[in-house]
Amino acid sequence: MSEQHDFGLVGLGVMGRNFILNVADHGFSSMGLDTDDEKVSALKEEGSQVRVDGTTDAATFVKALKTPRKIMLLVPAGKPVDAVIDTLLPHLNKGDIIIDGGNSFFEDTERRISYLEEKGMNFFGAGVSGGAKGARRGPSIMPGGSEAAYEHVKTIFEAASAKVNGEPCVAYMGRGSAGNYVKMVHNGIEYGLMQLISEIYDVAKKGAGYTNEKLASLFDTWNKGTLQSFLVEITAEIFAKKDELTGKDLVDVILDKAKQKGTGKWTSQNAMDLGIPVPTIDSAVTMREISSMKDYRVEADKVYHTASIGQDKPDAKTLENALYFAFIVTYAQGMSQLAAADKEYNYNLNMETIAKIWRGGCIIRAGLLEDIRKAYDRTPDLHNLMLDPDFVKTLKTIEGDARIVVQFAVGSGIPVAGLSSAIAYFDSFRSGNLPLNLIQAQRDHFGSHTYERTDREGIFHTEW
Ligand code: 6PG
Repeated sequence: MSEQHDFGLVGLGVMGRNFILNVADHGFSSMGLDTDDEKVSALKEEGSQVRVDGTTDAATFVKALKTPRKIMLLVPAGKPVDAVIDTLLPHLNKGDIIIDGGNSFFEDTERRISYLEEKGMNFFGAGVSGGAKGARRGPSIMPGGSEAAYEHVKTIFEAASAKVNGEPCVAYMGRGSAGNYVKMVHNGIEYGLMQLISEIYDVAKKGAGYTNEKLASLFDTWNKGTLQSFLVEITAEIFAKKDELTGKDLVDVILDKAKQKGTGKWTSQNAMDLGIPVPTIDSAVTMREISSMKDYRVEADKVYHTASIGQDKPDAKTLENALYFAFIVTYAQGMSQLAAADKEYNYNLNMETIAKIWRGGCIIRAGLLEDIRKAYDRTPDLHNLMLDPDFVKTLKTIEGDARIVVQFAVGSGIPVAGLSSAIAYFDSFRSGNLPLNLIQAQRDHFGSHTYERTDREGIFHTEW
């Protein structure tokens, strides 16, 4: 019974099991590997109607796959990926392909590509987004690395991915670690959007007195308009959910400390390295950090008297437009980071393709991504989404509402780090003149760092 399976998957946790069953559903005979017996049994049980098998033994697993072997890893990022590679290696042949489907750091992917290339094997990173349900019913997949190696798994990935208008939400992203990089920025945008939604929730609830019931219906309505997106859709569901233990609204009994596994922070860190501003993503990471300081927040809450809630409460339409404004600005930041990374790392990314495969399957899927796709179709080297003529029109129409919400929130003592960073980014970006001439003067004053002038060419220094 050797060499019978089309596809192998290592790591049969929820994501792995769901993804391999998804692949098998599409007619590709698949083999799973996990050190945990129970996970292997769970796969066999759930996959009894499709051509799927599983084992805890690496040699048996590898032998059961057709060559060149196509082995996808869905294991936690970091050391587990290296450990699995080393377990598989003695059993593999030249030309076999290992695909890392986890949220691996892109520099680790570069290292692994070189390591396996030296041994004649192919390795590439493929970001997979969509959570457990997406993995089972159709995720968005972001493969990068060797295009020739990707050709071997293309049909499998296209079959398993989500579809939008019949088009698969998977495409070759670019060279080297491009797949993991694009997924990292996807997650950075995800952090930004989630932070913005939580701020609008705060303004609506604490500021404008919305009940959870009203919020559920508000988000549900918004999901039918310009804000149509997976995150807005699930937010409506969350507000409507009751707690089985207490009968209360579940959202009210969930502790306000947000965890993170690192992808948002990596996005921010790398944006700094590239010199690309992504302040809304930075704010989202910062807010998760502040949220974890619960005890200090509670202490400070007792010390400071909160500002009283302002009178001019924003209405539903204003809140909707403010959120839409900040969504666009967040995508603009993430896309600009991708464009810069493309140059720095030579990925050969196609921005339109990225927007296209994000329209379905992934966590940041949104109606807005079709407009973003169109913008990059019109102008492939668009410097910033905020310069696309259609987005200019939209942003001009709704920027006032974003200001109203931020003014109200700041006046009422409601923290809106994400929303205000979006406005600050927009305002800075559209300011032909910034006060940073003064910074240059200060630098020259205390450190003779020199400055350029507005009225003539050259480098100048003044004895202040
Ligand atoms: C996705 C998600 C997925 C995961 C996040 C959660 O695209 O399917 O982004 O990858 O849910 O990594 O990240 P945090 O734990 O850092 O919030």
